[in-house]
Amino acid sequence: MTDSVKIESILHEDRIFLPQKNFDERISGAYINSTEAYDEMYARSVKDPDGFWGDVADELDWFERWDTVSSGTFQDSKWFEGGKTNICHNCIDRHINMGHGDTTAIIWEGEPCGSDGPEVQKISYYDLHARVCKFANALKSQGVKKGDVVTIYMGMVPELAIATLACARIGAPHSVIFGGFSSQAIADRVNDANSSVVITCDGSWRRGKIVPLKNNVDAATELTDVIKTVIVLKRCENEITWLEGRDFWWHDVCESQEEDCQCEQMDAEDMLFLLYTSGSTGKPKGIIHTTGGYMVYTYLTSKWVFNLKPDCDQIYWCTADIGWITGHSYIIYGVMQNRVPTVMYEGAPNFPESDRFWDIVERHKVTQFYTAPTAIRAFMKWGDEFPAKHDLSSLVLLGTVGEPINPEAWMWYREVIGSNNCPIVDTWWQTETGGHMLTPIPGATSTTPGSCTTPFFGVDAAVVNEDGSEVETNAGGLLVVRKPWPGILRGIYGDRERFIETYFGRVEGMYLAGDSARRDENGNFWIMGRIDDVINVSGHRLGTMEVESSLVSHESIVEAAVVGVPHEIKGTGIAAFCTLARGFEASEELKKTLIAHVANEIGAIAKPDVLKFTDALPKTRSGKIMRRLLRDVAAGTDSKQDVTTLEDFTVLAKLRAED
Ligand code: PRX
Repeated sequence: MTDSVKIESILHEDRIFLPQKNFDERISGAYINSTEAYDEMYARSVKDPDGFWGDVADELDWFERWDTVSSGTFQDSKWFEGGKTNICHNCIDRHINMGHGDTTAIIWEGEPCGSDGPEVQKISYYDLHARVCKFANALKSQGVKKGDVVTIYMGMVPELAIATLACARIGAPHSVIFGGFSSQAIADRVNDANSSVVITCDGSWRRGKIVPLKNNVDAATELTDVIKTVIVLKRCENEITWLEGRDFWWHDVCESQEEDCQCEQMDAEDMLFLLYTSGSTGKPKGIIHTTGGYMVYTYLTSKWVFNLKPDCDQIYWCTADIGWITGHSYIIYGVMQNRVPTVMYEGAPNFPESDRFWDIVERHKVTQFYTAPTAIRAFMKWGDEFPAKHDLSSLVLLGTVGEPINPEAWMWYREVIGSNNCPIVDTWWQTETGGHMLTPIPGATSTTPGSCTTPFFGVDAAVVNEDGSEVETNAGGLLVVRKPWPGILRGIYGDRERFIETYFGRVEGMYLAGDSARRDENGNFWIMGRIDDVINVSGHRLGTMEVESSLVSHESIVEAAVVGVPHEIKGTGIAAFCTLARGFEASEELKKTLIAHVANEIGAIAKPDVLKFTDALPKTRSGKIMRRLLRDVAAGTDSKQDVTTLEDFTVLAKLRAED
């Protein structure tokens, strides 16, 4: 951890929106439709978590029922032990068995190319079952067994969901890597997980250009010898290189496979997937989620937070990429367990025009829509004429995730997109939590722009001091959870010590989220920011150390410090301060080279927005870089911080003078 936690609140917001009266009618019946109902159910969920979660789990299929609902402390939390199930079964087979095979499971839209409009696929549960089974059998034929980690590095095509579900079906934990990451990032993750099979595409479409996914995998194979098999989906028909014996076409390996593949009977605590995310050190951590608890948790959060109801003409769309936890939980697993069609799109919000989202909402009659504040801010900037071109009256509920939403963006979302007729669910959660943790329940919770309101059922969240005591109303503190919940991470792959230290090492007996927060007089939570060296760029988590490591890996840089800087669209941008190695001169050219270097090492999302060369960095007498001062410099502010420990005052003065 860097600076001590000193959190002051500046935002004062007192607009309150009561639960919307007509929501119940518009959504074909709200599951929870009063504050009293929420209060009562919440009280039960924390008083009797085993009874509560046992009832939820009973709504799903199990090959064998569990012996105990929950056991263990945070560090060895177990849910539904003794139970056997398969999440792929609950996402697909369960619906077919109940006679819903013809219902649409996935609506996919490719990036519009040419004048014919976008390619659309509507995939029923029958079709999905067949395609998942074929690919599951193909994986088996390539030697993949239960417990083998399979890496998936693809664009947003239906086969990405199919590959993910196929892995779950055969009990091979998947490790999905966002398609925007670089070959170095692939190599690091593949090495860490010892994953010998990689599934990719020749390319994927983004803003009319091809993202060369297979080339990136090829480059990763130069950096690690762990990769033995690469399965390639043909999407863009771009030129790729090929290594016989290692590379296989998706269509070839699937061709002769049966359309049926039995689900592996998974123990509730068997690993379902690994997902790498950034932390305080330079090395991303592989977050482990297991089968039973994650399944039940994503099922219920999807059901109640989005009010998903099968057979009610609902169409749900989450605009995230499956490469992030939001896509795992709320494009695939949580939604598909609820039998509501899930929309997947390929491309970008502003291509071919800045109305792509609203065009999709109108054509598919999307009812529940879930996106990130960064996208909302971008749309605000592009202008109201883009949503105005479309009929958005199908929308019934709006959601946001990934970073704090500023009240202006919240209000715009409500008024311009929702016509003041849709509740907004601002959902706070993390890769580690598996699903929503703090969120309004539509139909029951009064909302206030900028607040993620109250805990989901079973979540005992609090804002505390270092000693675990609760802070006063409206005072900032550490956001913690005091009891395990079904979706909690079960570990960091291969690093138990880091797992314990990161989440349970600072406040005894509690899960430390890594965010600071305050709770207001109405009991609503307000997220204030990270307390560690993690920044949230466009809702994507990045470790400042990762960016620093990549900068110093360039020959021209000896030392680098990276901090977050307020950014109009991204929420937080990246500012990098670099000291040059001997023989190198500061220049615009070198700046560009370094920014490109970071993009190459990590991915475009990690590109610094501001890069400054400096003779020295502000440090304490013990040699620690004083990042809080750099944050001030980057933001062009002076928060009158305590500088008594600063070693050399001239460093700061020089940095400020350069602005
Ligand atoms: O800082 C919080 C912020 O995103 C972090 C988690 O990032 P990640 O694991 O990548 O998961 C993002 C999608 C769930 C949190 O520690 N965050 C996420 N949602 C919100 C948020 N901050 C404020 N409000 C939110 N609704």
